[in-house]
Amino acid sequence: MRAISIIKSEHKNLGAVLYSLDKLIEEIDDGKQPDFSIFHGLFTYIDRFLDRYHHPKENHYLFPKLLARAPETESLIRELGQQHTEGEILFVEMLKALSAYEFSGDAEFPHFRETVSRYTEFERNHAHKEEEEILPRAREALQDSDWEEIDAAFDENEDPIFGNKWSDEFSGLLNKLISRLPAPLGLGDDWKK
Ligand SMILES: [Fe+2]
Ligand SMILES: [Fe+2]
Repeated sequence: MRAISIIKSEHKNLGAVLYSLDKLIEEIDDGKQPDFSIFHGLFTYIDRFLDRYHHPKENHYLFPKLLARAPETESLIRELGQQHTEGEILFVEMLKALSAYEFSGDAEFPHFRETVSRYTEFERNHAHKEEEEILPRAREALQDSDWEEIDAAFDENEDPIFGNKWSDEFSGLLNKLISRLPAPLGLGDDWKK
């Protein structure tokens, strides 16, 4: 059942990234110049970690096992799987809006801001739904043999920003985030609890 705490901690890390995105937008609203490299770093993290590891692990291990043990969860699982796809679409829209903003300047900021707030709200609600509706059901319905396989899959990858083995690439991003963003965004502070 270790996967449950791994999923929750990955959601918490995602929450910190979403919070950072909203905060960076607020800073620009308040007149700060955008630091595009931070946005690119955060988006690369979302693409590499959320869309290529976290969601596929839920799709391929947690959801099918739960469906087999608790068939009544079918529509919920279908909805969450669709949200993974929808989240990727919203992510691409945000990425395109960033590119337009970087290339064309301030006139494109309102559209970029809109795509960021749509994305952060969507992914927050998605993680919340999983924690409220799927994880408690999985805890009840799945057997030890199911957990062995799910746990092994979730153990496999290491979060490049928030895990213990930071890649050089992402530790640079983490340092940037820590140095730029106000409390409670410091490493090890409240936002990681
Ligand atoms: Fe998910
Ligand atoms: Fe999730």
